[in-house]
Amino acid sequence: MQLKGKTAIVTGSGRGLGKAIALKLAQMGANIVLNDIVNSDSIDETAEEFRAAGYNVIVTKGDVRNPDDVKEMVDKAVEAFGSIDILVNNAGITKDKPLAMMSLEDWDDVLDINLKGAFICTKAVAKVMIKQKSGKIINIASVAGVMGNPGQANYSASKAGLIGLTKTTAKELAARNITCNAVAPGLIKSKMTDVLPDKVKEAYLNSIPLKRFGTPEDVANVVGFLASDDSNYVTGQVIHIDGGLVM
Ligand SMILES: NC(=O)c1ccc[n+]([C@@H]2O[C@H](COP(=O)([O-])OP(=O)(O)OC[C@H]3O[C@@H](n4cnc5c(N)ncnc54)[C@H](O)[C@@H]3O)[C@@H](O)[C@H]2O)c1
Repeated sequence: MQLKGKTAIVTGSGRGLGKAIALKLAQMGANIVLNDIVNSDSIDETAEEFRAAGYNVIVTKGDVRNPDDVKEMVDKAVEAFGSIDILVNNAGITKDKPLAMMSLEDWDDVLDINLKGAFICTKAVAKVMIKQKSGKIINIASVAGVMGNPGQANYSASKAGLIGLTKTTAKELAARNITCNAVAPGLIKSKMTDVLPDKVKEAYLNSIPLKRFGTPEDVANVVGFLASDDSNYVTGQVIHIDGGLVM
């Protein structure tokens, strides 16, 4: 129960990696603030599962791109639990297309959610953490932001941007005892990757030294470490969770 008494916001946690991360932090003892878009098909179900397991959880529906929604999320978290100790910027989307066919809308949607959304949440939560003089911010990037990926000009740019945001946040907030790190998952089994064509999945598998796709729990375990005091001397880092795909 390393996170007993701490409060964690996990954006986009209705399903997938965000849900697995929120579950891990709850198992470590944290109070959990679930967030997902208003029309999420799964956030209420997820909250029920957490409550049934005896975890402290609140739900804040809202769009990470909308500063008013994010303010409401932060206010509700502080009102319910008194502090925000951990922020996981997980909400993200893909809109893959070859560069020459990618519309401005495809570009903007992905950059707005994956990068601007993380900035808006970080800015809002940092204000609380600065007053507390403590906090852990964890950004869910991707190997695509490090090595690029055909068809993902928008996505890889958003994740590379998120890595830059991670390093600047780490440098700016270190004096306030706030750390900021990113994880860069490779191919993780999820609804986002289920839709990839089989030949793309096979090509990945051939280039992964550990010869398997990751699980949401593989990602959640590393985020759990970064959220805990065990990582107090780690900041500004990008930890790859990819079976050795990028090294
Ligand atoms: N699945 C992978 O293999 C993989 C690999 C590397 C990185 N990632 C990253 O992990 C994160 C989670 O991915 P996933 O695979 O679980 O995807 P997912 O689509 O299953 O889950 C994403 C969640 O974010 C929510 N969301 C989308 N837009 C939002 C917004 N504007 N505001 C709030 N919530 C919003 C969705 O409703 C959904 O519940 C993403 O940032 C993704 O880029 C995933």
